[in-house]
Amino acid sequence: MGDSLMPSEVSEFILPQSMILPFETVIPEELMQEAIRLARKAEYQTEPNPIVGALLADPQGNILSSGFHQKPGKAHAEVMALQGFEQVPPEATLYVTLEPCSHFGKTPPCAELLLQKQVKQVVVGCLDPNPLVAGRGVALLREKGVQVKVGLCEQDCIDLNPVFNKHIVTHLPYVTLKAATSLDGKIAMPSGESQWITGAEARAYGHLLRSRHQAIVVGSQTLLKDNPQLTNRIEPGQRQPIRIAFSSLGNIQEETSFLQNQETQRIVVAGCEIKDKQLQFLQSMGVKVLVAPTARPAVRWALEELYTLGICSLLVEGGAELVGSFLQEGLVDQLCLFLSGKLIASPEAPAWCGNLGISHLADVPHFKFKSVKPMGDDLLITGYLQ
Ligand SMILES: NC(=O)c1ccc[n+]([C@@H]2O[C@H](COP(=O)([O-])OP(=O)(O)OC[C@H]3O[C@@H](n4cnc5c(N)ncnc54)[C@H](OP(=O)(O)O)[C@@H]3O)[C@@H](O)[C@H]2O)c1
Repeated sequence: MGDSLMPSEVSEFILPQSMILPFETVIPEELMQEAIRLARKAEYQTEPNPIVGALLADPQGNILSSGFHQKPGKAHAEVMALQGFEQVPPEATLYVTLEPCSHFGKTPPCAELLLQKQVKQVVVGCLDPNPLVAGRGVALLREKGVQVKVGLCEQDCIDLNPVFNKHIVTHLPYVTLKAATSLDGKIAMPSGESQWITGAEARAYGHLLRSRHQAIVVGSQTLLKDNPQLTNRIEPGQRQPIRIAFSSLGNIQEETSFLQNQETQRIVVAGCEIKDKQLQFLQSMGVKVLVAPTARPAVRWALEELYTLGICSLLVEGGAELVGSFLQEGLVDQLCLFLSGKLIASPEAPAWCGNLGISHLADVPHFKFKSVKPMGDDLLITGYLQ
């Protein structure tokens, strides 16, 4: 693959028609993998939008220009890749990880821009699951005579955007469950002591996970017993997630880090029996309170509300009872389980997922494992709820 060229240099590289290689002869996978690499430059910075990479290549595979979507409201990847061209060279091909959009969002439709710039060949990694697009971008281009291929490195392109793929279809945040457990799946001693079950490397990775989600969620008992800071303390300059606590009556002690540290937004998800005095107290501490229609806030209700506040990704850090509610309502996407070699082996010690109260094996939640990685003295197991 050649070096990137400035658009002004492109005309020198236009080959006579007879020398142009057919569309199929370049190694397109390499070009799409380069577009994927570009997309990843903005990982965790574009929510609610997907990460997208695009590049324009000549028939020999030389990259003429490239771009990626950097953050919401900023240019889409295709716009960046085509900027500077009045009209793209007719033999050039645009590689883009996600189908060009066909609707007006914060920016005009990219499919129209491609037509305006007279792009003749487009290779798309995967279709856009957004119901407003969902094949319309590709259809529009084909209607106007553009040669469009869809599905190159498709799974890699789909895998770029787990959060977007979920929320744009369901209007619910993508949920990751994170727990640090003993070898027998316990998250604390019978006394409640839980610091620390896993070692420094696993805890550092936990902070990285925090920076990769827009918000962290805990139950009221975890706030009470652990007084966690719920901040990302390992990645300077990375984002700090919004901190969220589920607490039916909003009984959160004034001295907790949750109330004392006002640097990032905090939300309490409460029930309808919360006292006015407590509501006012929390609000006076700068906390946004969501009051559910039920005495105990249901997880689905909370997720719908949080989504309307723009939260597309959530890291649930426990404890067991809250995790159990997420699992019971089937509202979990990903699991990140840090497994320590320590064995607690006490029936009174809480397990990471509480009591789901399911009688038949056929009905239990089933995670499909994706990876197992050693992390210091611990293991990180990741999986997806089937
Ligand atoms: N090792 C780890 O990774 C880890 C992580 C976190 C916690 N922990 C440990 O876990 C223990 C706390 O866990 P826990 O199971 O006792 O409590 P928890 O899950 O932290 O909190 C449960 C409480 O949250 C409130 N809540 C509100 N809405 C809820 C809903 N829809 N579903 C469930 N709960 C809801 C309820 O209290 P209200 O009545 O006040 O609403 C409920 O009793 C601590 O010992 C802590 O150290 C370990």
